[in-house]
Amino acid sequence: MKIVLGVTGGVAVYKMLGVVRQLQSDGHEIVVIMTPAAAKFVNPILFKTLSHNTVLTEDFDISRPIAHVELADWADVYAVAPATANTIAKIAHGIADNLLTTTALARTGRRIVFPSMNVHMYENPATQENLCILSEKLGWEVVEPDSGSLACGYSGKGRLVSEERIAAVISRDPDAPLKGKKYIVTAGGTIEKIDPVRYISNFSSGKMGIETAKALYKKGADVLLVYGNITASVPSYIESVKIESAAELLDTLRRRLPLFDGVFMAAAVADYAPSKQSQSKIKRHDDKITLELTANPDVLKTAASENKGKLFVGFALETDDAEANAAKKLSAKGIDYIVLNRLGPEHNPLGADENSVRLIGKNGAAEESGLISKKEAAEWLVRRILIENPARGAV
Ligand code: CTP
Repeated sequence: MKIVLGVTGGVAVYKMLGVVRQLQSDGHEIVVIMTPAAAKFVNPILFKTLSHNTVLTEDFDISRPIAHVELADWADVYAVAPATANTIAKIAHGIADNLLTTTALARTGRRIVFPSMNVHMYENPATQENLCILSEKLGWEVVEPDSGSLACGYSGKGRLVSEERIAAVISRDPDAPLKGKKYIVTAGGTIEKIDPVRYISNFSSGKMGIETAKALYKKGADVLLVYGNITASVPSYIESVKIESAAELLDTLRRRLPLFDGVFMAAAVADYAPSKQSQSKIKRHDDKITLELTANPDVLKTAASENKGKLFVGFALETDDAEANAAKKLSAKGIDYIVLNRLGPEHNPLGADENSVRLIGKNGAAEESGLISKKEAAEWLVRRILIENPARGAV
């Protein structure tokens, strides 16, 4: 994707170094435009080094007299981050007094602004009105700042959103094929408590589910991530809820699913939970002890039977008779697709960064992803299930 990044002179400008680095390593082409004030905070050489590309700081370069028009037309997305109250006011009123603001005026395609300033400046009716002009009249996407402690010593709304969120919003697919769609993704292992300090769980890292949530978001969908015990980190730009047990997971799905179009069930749900949960720590005995387990509900099967017509994708982990077992699960659970993960001597997907999955549709058709990163595998699944193959049950 071709990105023009307008950087203004706010304290949060340092965060943009991380954003540029992230976008560049994800394969995007970035041209940075810095306002004169931004160039006082950070030396443009840093942006040039991280973007591996041109950084423009002057409003008039004799060799590129119409840089603002060229850049405005070239980019797939024009993002201004951090955007100070001053630059927001200028853009809202068509003032074009530097390269960043002239490019803003010349730009007609996708435009995003990430405000960052002191809480009183942000809440000032003048700034609020300018932001309204940007979103209502001029077609900018406005990403509201976070609340928290601000560099000026105040606490409140105005803090630039996280680097991870800026990069994710900017690099969202401009065609947004899943815009308006809403999916729940479950990830990680459930925890079934034995007593206040011990539990039964599994080796699931949550990576595949989290990558699936990111892949759906990237294609424009609204995503709710419901996660249990994980080692991977939860993306700050995706709404998420933490759960512990299978019962809690089922309860969460029952409450939230009516507003969603489907579920990608990557969570590793414990099939059994201790029949009794001790309220106090179980003490050591010399002799052996027996732990009685009771079967948990099949969360996916229950949710699918209670929500006919929505999309349900299960993830099966198999060690033996992989294909036959996965196919059995697909029909027994009454779902649309099953994603088969094989655990064998040559590959263990648990906790790994790579995966090789087989996608099986309810009509029996199947295809293999080959060994790729979990990020690529998640993007492949989303593409095959929802974009290239929207007919339910086909692969
Ligand atoms: N699943 C579920 N509730 C359970 C067990 C599994 O919702 N109690 C879901 C998982 O989230 C996954 C799919 O069912 O999407 C397959 O999970 P898997 O553990 O492979 O299969 P099980 O149904 O538990 O069968 P088995 O453990 O016998 O292989």
